[in-house]
Amino acid sequence: MSVFFSRIKGMLFLLFLTWFCSGQPAPPLLRFSVYLDPSNMVYLRWDHDEQEMMTFDLQVHTTGWVAFGFSPHGELPGSDIVIGGVFPNGSIYFSDFHVVDEATLEEDDSQDYKLLSVTENETSTTMLFKRHLRTCDSNDLDITMDTARLITVFGTDDTVQIFKGQKFSKSLFLMRYRSPSNSTDPKIFFTYDLRLDNFAVPVEETKYACTFLPLPVVKQKHHIYKFEPVITPHNITLVHHILIYACGNASVLPSGIDDCYGANPDFALCSQVVVGWAVGGESYQFPDDAAYSIGTPWDPQYVRLEIHYSNFDLVSGLIDSSGVRIYYTPEVRKYDVGVLQTGIFTFPVHFIPPGAESYRSYGLCNSSQFDEMNGTPVPDLHVFAYLLHTHLAGRGVKVTQYRNGKQLGIICEDNKYDFTLQEIRDMKEILVIKPGDEILVECNFQTLDRSGITFAGPSTMNEMCLSFLFYYPRNNISSCMGYPDILYIAHVLKQEASDAVEGMMAMDFVDWNNETVKTAEKAAKEADQIVVIKTINVSPPSAQLVVGKMSLQVTTWYQSIPAPT
Ligand SMILES: *[C@@H]1O[C@H](CO)[C@@H](O)[C@H](O)[C@H]1NC(C)=O
Ligand SMILES: *[C@@H]1O[C@H](CO)[C@@H](O)[C@H](O)[C@H]1NC(C)=O
Ligand SMILES: *[C@@H]1O[C@H](CO)[C@@H](O)[C@H](O)[C@H]1NC(C)=O
Ligand SMILES: *[C@@H]1O[C@H](CO)[C@@H](O)[C@H](O)[C@H]1NC(C)=O
Ligand SMILES: *[C@@H]1O[C@H](CO)[C@@H](O)[C@H](O)[C@H]1NC(C)=O
Ligand SMILES: *[C@@H]1O[C@H](CO)[C@@H](O)[C@H](O)[C@H]1NC(C)=O
Ligand SMILES: *[C@@H]1O[C@H](CO)[C@@H](O)[C@H](O)[C@H]1NC(C)=O
Ligand SMILES: *[C@@H]1O[C@H](CO)[C@@H](O)[C@H](O)[C@H]1NC(C)=O
Repeated sequence: MSVFFSRIKGMLFLLFLTWFCSGQPAPPLLRFSVYLDPSNMVYLRWDHDEQEMMTFDLQVHTTGWVAFGFSPHGELPGSDIVIGGVFPNGSIYFSDFHVVDEATLEEDDSQDYKLLSVTENETSTTMLFKRHLRTCDSNDLDITMDTARLITVFGTDDTVQIFKGQKFSKSLFLMRYRSPSNSTDPKIFFTYDLRLDNFAVPVEETKYACTFLPLPVVKQKHHIYKFEPVITPHNITLVHHILIYACGNASVLPSGIDDCYGANPDFALCSQVVVGWAVGGESYQFPDDAAYSIGTPWDPQYVRLEIHYSNFDLVSGLIDSSGVRIYYTPEVRKYDVGVLQTGIFTFPVHFIPPGAESYRSYGLCNSSQFDEMNGTPVPDLHVFAYLLHTHLAGRGVKVTQYRNGKQLGIICEDNKYDFTLQEIRDMKEILVIKPGDEILVECNFQTLDRSGITFAGPSTMNEMCLSFLFYYPRNNISSCMGYPDILYIAHVLKQEASDAVEGMMAMDFVDWNNETVKTAEKAAKEADQIVVIKTINVSPPSAQLVVGKMSLQVTTWYQSIPAPT
C-alpha cells in the first residue's frame, strides 16, 4: 500500500477539482461500446470528437482499484495506463501511470488523462475520463487508425497491486466514425440467416469452419443493407470472427461443413469479402445511399460462411449454430455496393523469407485498363469502408493511392494489424478513386518464429496481403492485384532460374540471414510488377488480363505522408 500511496499525492489535487465541479455531470452520449473480457465484467463505452479528444466510460465489476490503458503488444510492460477508484471513506483517486517493466509502475510527470467522474456502487466501479488522441508525452501511447491493444487490470480492494490484479487484454479498433444506430431503415424489409447448422465444435483451440449457403432467392432486385451477428449463447466466448465471401456463378461448390483452409481446397473457394464481423462487434449497416445487390444476373447466388472458433478452454460437446443475419429490402437505394480486392495476387511467387523481424511486400493495382475490362467506362469509385487481410505473419497493411505517378495519400492502414480482428471499418470520409489511379498495398510480415519460407496461399500458415475496398457505384471489376517478377528477385539473389516456378524453387536454396532477407525485400520492391485484373463472373468466367510488366520503381515514388485529416 505504501508504495502506491507515496505516488498518490499528486492525484489528490485532481480529486478535489473534480468533486468541486462535478455534481454528477450528465453522462455524455458515447456512441460505441463493447465488453473487454469474455465474462462481461469490464464494459467500455467510448467516443471521439473533432477536437481529437477521446472520452471513455469504463464500468468494472469490482469495488477495488481499476487500471485501464494502452499496451504495445497486449502485455503490461510498456503500457500507458490510468489507475483509479473510490476509497471506503468515499474519497477518490485517479492518475496517469506507465508500466516500465515486469515489476515497475511509475506515475507520469505529465498527467494527460482528465477525470470526469469516478463512482462506485455495491458491485461496480465506473470511471469517466478523457484524453487527446496524441498527448505529446512519451509515456503515453497515441490513439491512431491502428488496432489498439487495450489492457484492463483490477483488484478487489483499494490497494493497487498492478502485477497481481485480474488482467484482460483485447484488440479493438477505436477510431470509428459511424454508429450502427445512426442509419435509416427501410419501411419494408426481410431477414435471412446465414448460419451453421448444429456444428459440433471440435476440442481444438482454433477451428476455421466453412460452409456454402445460398443467398435469398428474389424475383427482382433487392438490396442487402445490414448484417448482424447471430451468436448461439454459450457460457464462454466461442465465436471469434465471422467472414462472408461471395461466390462466382461458375464455381462448383462442395456441400457440408469443413476446415476452411484444410485438406479440401474447395472449402477455400469464393474470396470476395462481403462483410466481416469480429468478437465484440455489433451490426454493420451500409451508408444510407448504397447497399449490396441481390436478384440480378450480376449478383452472387451463394456465399461462403467462415467462422473462426476459439475453444481455448477445450470444452467438449459444444454445438453451435452461429452466423450472420442479413437484412434486405425491395426499396432499392441509389447505388449498388461493389468490393474491389487489391493487394498481392495470392500466388507462391509472393514469398516471405524466414527469420525476418519485419519484411515488407508490395502489390500494385494499375487501373488504367479498367474501362476496357469493364465493358463500359468505369465511374469514379467512392470508397466508404475497407477490410484488411493477411494471415498469421501479418503485422501491418497500408493502402496508398497514386495519380499520374504522384502519391495522393493513404487510403487506409493498420500498422498494428491483428489477424484475429478482421472487420469492416468505415472511412472517415468518402475517398474517390479514378480509373487510371494506382493503388499500392504494402504488407509488413514477421517470421522470427519460422524456419522455412512462407509462400502465399490460402491456408493460415501461408500468407496473403489483401485489402478489400467497399465502394459505389459498382462496376464489373472484382480484383486488381500485382505480384513481383520473381526472375528479377532470383537474379539479384544470385540464383539460376528461367521461369516463375524455377524462381520460386530457387528461393529454397538461398542462405537466409538478415542480410539476404533485406536484399530480397529490396529486390521484390524494385522488381517489375505483373498486374492481374479480374472481372465478376460474366461468361467467360473470370476474365483475366495481364497488364504486362511495368517499370515501376516503388522506391522512387513511395514515401510516407500522413493520412489526410
Ligand atoms: C480516505 O481514505 C484514504 C485511504 O485510506 C485516505 O488517504 C484519505 O485521506 C481519506 N480521506 C478522507 C477525506 O478521510
Ligand atoms: C452498479 O453500477 C453498474 C454500472 O453502472 C450498474 O450496471 C449496476 O446496475 C449498479 N448496481 C446497483 C446495485 O445499483
Ligand atoms: C446521424 O447522422 C445524421 C446525418 O446522416 C447527422 O445529422 C446526425 O447528427 C447523426 N446523429 C448522431 C447521433 O450522430
Ligand atoms: C460452462 O458450462 C459447463 C457445463 O455446464 C461447465 O463445465 C463449465 O465449467 C462452464 N464454463 C464456464 C467458463 O463457466
Ligand atoms: C448466373 O447464373 C444464373 C442462373 O444460373 C443466370 O441467370 C445468370 O445470368 C448468371 N450470371 C452471370 C453473371 O453469368
Ligand atoms: C458490366 O459489363 C457489361 C458488358 O460486359 C456492361 O454492359 C455493363 O454495363 C457493365 N456493368 C457496369 C456496372 O459497369
Ligand atoms: C535476424 O536477426 C534477429 C535478431 O538478431 C534474429 O532473431 C533472426 O533469427 C535473424 N534472422 C535470420 C534469418 O538470420
Ligand atoms: C499503368 O499502366 C499504364 C498503361 O499500361 C502505364 O502507362 C503506366 O505507366 C502504368 N503505371 C505505372 C505506375 O507503372
